[in-house]
Amino acid sequence: MKAWDGVAYDALPLPHEQWGIRTIEALNLQPNETLLDAGCGTGRDAQLALEQLPNGFLVCVDQSSTMLDQCRSRFGQDSRVKILEGDLDKALPVEPESIDAIMSVAALHWLADHNNVWRHFFTALKPGGRIATDCGGFGNLAKTLALVPQIDPNIKFPDWYYANVADTEALLKAAGFVDIEVSLRPHPTPLPNKETLETYLRTLVFREWSDEHISKISELLTDNTLDYVRLEVRASKA
Ligand SMILES: C[S@@+](CC[C@H](N)C(=O)[O-])C[C@H]1O[C@@H](n2cnc3c(N)ncnc32)[C@H](O)[C@@H]1O
Repeated sequence: MKAWDGVAYDALPLPHEQWGIRTIEALNLQPNETLLDAGCGTGRDAQLALEQLPNGFLVCVDQSSTMLDQCRSRFGQDSRVKILEGDLDKALPVEPESIDAIMSVAALHWLADHNNVWRHFFTALKPGGRIATDCGGFGNLAKTLALVPQIDPNIKFPDWYYANVADTEALLKAAGFVDIEVSLRPHPTPLPNKETLETYLRTLVFREWSDEHISKISELLTDNTLDYVRLEVRASKA
């Protein structure tokens, strides 16, 4: 899998910023809490959240070394911040019951097994801890992906897992969470012009594709709009 380009990523007009703001707001962070950002990428959302943690701590976890390089340069020597390489398919790289709140934005649809993810989140949380997450949900990019066979029937794209509400509620419950709220929120996202659309697709969505394939799908997306559907989760540990 091609590495993420953290610098190009941060230069894009990302709908992720709005997804991040919604996710952070849902956590109602307190000034001395410890927050973990799962799949933090370049740390853009984590930096926003850190403003609410003057006496707290932030743990950033991601498996991409290139995204984490950008994340490290963002936070410099801030003693409140720990940046850790880790795979969200495995136990989080923190002590059990050490985290007050977990956020995750635009990352969990990269994982095929959400059962593991919710259980690992539950283990890391202190009693009374809570989670707020955003990721691609059922129906995400359905119109965009339906165009792909017109370009090349053999072309590959990642095997994203776009979970639905019922399955997610059941897994959260089985992991032990309470106060569970799960919803799907359509968020069609127009990009300003073809050049931005193509950079966006190349950096984020179809990172393995050739320039020729990127310009073909860009032509087919006549309204320059990506049909995002977000799966939003809020839950807590009793
Ligand atoms: C679209 S980026 C989102 C980054 C950031 N949360 C944001 O909203 O800008 C997806 C991130 O998920 C991370 N990711 C995907 N699968 C992962 C896994 N199994 N473990 C850890 N991180 C993962 C990628 O490395 C990437 O940084």
